Amino acid sequence: MTAAGEGWTLRLLDDVLRQHEGVGDSWLHPAELSQLQRIANRQIWRQSIGVRLAAKSLLLATPMFRGKVPQDLAIVTPRRNGRSLPPRVEVDEAPQAVAISLSHTTRYVAAAVACSSRKFIGIDIVENSAAPDAWLVQWLSQAERALSASADGPSPSELWAAKEAAFKTLSPGTPFVPGALQIARAKGGSLTWRHENAPAERGDVTLHCGPQCVIALARRTTARVPSARREVSLV
Ligand SMILES: CC(C)(COP(=O)(O)OP(=O)(O)OC[C@H]1O[C@@H](n2cnc3c(N)ncnc32)[C@H](O)[C@@H]1OP(=O)(O)O)[C@@H](O)C(=O)NCCC(=O)NCCS
Repeated sequence: MTAAGEGWTLRLLDDVLRQHEGVGDSWLHPAELSQLQRIANRQIWRQSIGVRLAAKSLLLATPMFRGKVPQDLAIVTPRRNGRSLPPRVEVDEAPQAVAISLSHTTRYVAAAVACSSRKFIGIDIVENSAAPDAWLVQWLSQAERALSASADGPSPSELWAAKEAAFKTLSPGTPFVPGALQIARAKGGSLTWRHENAPAERGDVTLHCGPQCVIALARRTTARVPSARREVSLV
């Protein structure tokens, strides 16, 4: 966690749940419990709890939430027209000026936070065993396939994680269209992303690759559009 209140965490789901055994409920806000009640799939339900516990540990380590207890914070993921929107942090039902992004898989949970209303961040985990590269390649453009085939180029799984992380930084209501999010290598070697249908939507992405999974962390460099224009301007 930086002094400016930015950081991310990757944890084993079972470890997080074990660590909070018996106290997990007291970490959750009623608004979270009511969202969790609606999850029918037990595996997703466990992941959604685990990722919130991990994210709250991160949030409570920031100066912004000093003095708060876990149950003061509600990490809610609103839905609109059957689509999920980016998660937000609420205190006393008031959205907080903090960017948050979550990702969960069967084995891992990951969260990223940035204590600013002007930052847009996205995190995504892809387990190495989750999808064969041959299947993921179909979602890549010619340029991305060439990048992947280049020396030290990111693998299809890494590019997929980068696309999902970039998607999570976009304005609420933007549909996930993997082909519209293009990943490229900048001159200095770092990875960048841009939205094909919304040229102002772009940013950078960093990859953290381990033997079991890849983590992508994306930032958006442009400001979010005013709420009245969100739905029409980005699709
Ligand atoms: C967001 C999405 C890409 C993540 O998929 P995933 O890799 O399977 O799941 P991850 O575990 O990495 O991420 C899940 C988390 O992403 C977050 N999330 C969900 N929708 C999000 C959105 N629109 N923007 C940012 N973050 C989002 C949530 O925090 C969610 O966890 P939670 O439900 O426990 O709160 C996927 O849910 C998706 O495709 N959503 C868009 C729906 C959409 O546009 N549908 C229209 C299709 S045309």
